[in-house]
Amino acid sequence: MAILKDFPTLSASDVMAESRSLRRSAAAPWYRHADPLQSAVEHLAASSPRFNWVGIYVLNGDVLELGPFIGAPTEHTRIAVGRGVCGTAVARNADMNVPDVHDSDNYLACSLETRSELVVLIHDPSGATVGQIDIDSHTRAAFGPQEEALVRDVARVLGERWADHASQGTALTS
Ligand code: SME
Repeated sequence: MAILKDFPTLSASDVMAESRSLRRSAAAPWYRHADPLQSAVEHLAASSPRFNWVGIYVLNGDVLELGPFIGAPTEHTRIAVGRGVCGTAVARNADMNVPDVHDSDNYLACSLETRSELVVLIHDPSGATVGQIDIDSHTRAAFGPQEEALVRDVARVLGERWADHASQGTALTS
């Protein structure tokens, strides 16, 4: 009996939290709790050679602020809702898959090499838009149903856990 006393007791809620955390890691092995947005862009950038620029914008009021990204630096670190493909996605509350950016009249050029762009919104558990994943490709029409599903899955995981990292202050200031 003396030995048993040396073990800390776990409450039912501790056990539930631990089991939830294990299930989450199994569902999204790329997710790093200490650095969720960075871990998401790393995971996506490594997922396809066609993903030439991968970044996450965080919505702050009516401005999208660039957080972690992989790819060439961009001057578009702050984008107003309604501007460009990124801001239009928020204004319409809809993901945007642009097969050829040359055909879009509301496109903010990041790189002259970019041909197609995918923007997937991130919603927190209340359904509010909190940010977005933006991916550019040098390949025309790079984003098919498989790529959309992959990116939406990552956006869903980030959204479900948004409260865990919303306080980390990801935005870059320009
Ligand atoms: N092309 C985006 C701007 C962001 S860059 O692609 C990184 C847009 O039109 O909103």
